[in-house]
Amino acid sequence: MPKPGTITAVKGFRDVLPEESRRWRELEAVAAEVFGAYGFGEIRLPVVERTELFARSLGEATDVVEKEMYTFVDRDEASLTLRPEATAGVVRAYLENGLVTSDPTVRLFYRGPMFRRERPQRGRYRQFYQIGAEIFGRDDALVDAELLVMLTRYLDAVGARATLELNSVGDARCRPAYRDRLRAFARAHLDALCADCHRRAERNPLRLFDCKVETCRAVLLRAPRIADNLCDACRTHFDEVRALLDRQGVAYVLRPELVRGLDYYVRTAFELVAEGLGAQNAVGGGGRYDGLVAALGGPEVAGVGFALGVERLAMATGTTARSDARVRVAVLPLDARAVPPALALATRLRDEHWAVALEASGRSLKALLRSADRRGARLAIIIGEDELRTGRATIRDLAQRRDVKDALPLDAAAAELSRRLDALDEAAPARSTDA
Ligand code: HAM
Repeated sequence: MPKPGTITAVKGFRDVLPEESRRWRELEAVAAEVFGAYGFGEIRLPVVERTELFARSLGEATDVVEKEMYTFVDRDEASLTLRPEATAGVVRAYLENGLVTSDPTVRLFYRGPMFRRERPQRGRYRQFYQIGAEIFGRDDALVDAELLVMLTRYLDAVGARATLELNSVGDARCRPAYRDRLRAFARAHLDALCADCHRRAERNPLRLFDCKVETCRAVLLRAPRIADNLCDACRTHFDEVRALLDRQGVAYVLRPELVRGLDYYVRTAFELVAEGLGAQNAVGGGGRYDGLVAALGGPEVAGVGFALGVERLAMATGTTARSDARVRVAVLPLDARAVPPALALATRLRDEHWAVALEASGRSLKALLRSADRRGARLAIIIGEDELRTGRATIRDLAQRRDVKDALPLDAAAAELSRRLDALDEAAPARSTDA
């Protein structure tokens, strides 16, 4: 525990240390590679947007907009919000940068931090990271299937085992009638529903399904389900998506009550649920949002996409033991006079892309060697009084615990140093930290 008076991170905000961020980098690198094969290019977006963007796209009555946004008034009195998700921002950028005319069927992926003021718990933070992807300008079932194939291929590639839960949430044609049925159901069960649900029933009945109160959830199990209330066009679209997934061998579970927590979804909606993550087991989610581009001032353009939570993805795939900086060589200056040549030697090696640990002088050789060993170095280059006099550094093979026969000229050129150490490094047995 930090001492009283020390400054700690804000609740729900956390640090990502090298071992975890190394895993994240892998998750991001594989995403770029896999998504690239499906025609996606990366977009980098601002983390701050106008509040209105989220209010208009996610829905005024959603938990995110009602309770979870970090919203503040800027000095010029504009209301700004730290993005709680990125789909709205991607749509804004699609319109603002003219992609809607220059590249209307563009495929964009993104990664970065999102902010939601939720109650923090394992797997749920107030700043969290997503990797997401969006496809514009296509409303055919093929593109939904393609996106889901890509998503499952990606999860396989990073070793995440997750179940795809699938539904169709209808569209502007069939949803109004369903909404009315749901409202009627809620009104008939008001006694068993919480105050929030009373409000939801009137404002936006679909949001009833977001309620976390157990008794409300029990009632809603008996509510009419969107999947049973689709119009013909939505039903056909959903059947086509499913048939393509079946043909492709993509496994999924139908979840007829799944509606997702944001208002912009129409038709295909899905979540990815992993085992062993506890209560926050959704590693990702997404769906179709035809109509969102128009709602934000553009033409009628279809859209479909998903986002994965990076923290949860890392939890679902486990971490690798390898440490980030794979130090191969430690340079050990024994006294103050050895420091400048030690820095020069380490710099030349680092210029040749060796990962070098450079220790502080003034400690015993034994202490320096122990420290080099702890960092996983295979070879130690020792520079002390004798070495300075002869101009040749001693090389200790840390795995074999003995000095190498040929000392290393302190003024050797970078390439020569690299060649010599390479030969020695190859001859040395593998160390456990490199496994
Ligand atoms: P979402 O379901 O709200 O969808 O979030 C996607 C994923 O982000 C979740 O499945 C979860 O893994 C992660 N996530 C959400 N909130 C938190 C949190 N507080 N802490 C940790 N992880 C979290 C969207 O955001 C949509 N924009 C996805 C989308 C893209 N739909 C269409 N295109």
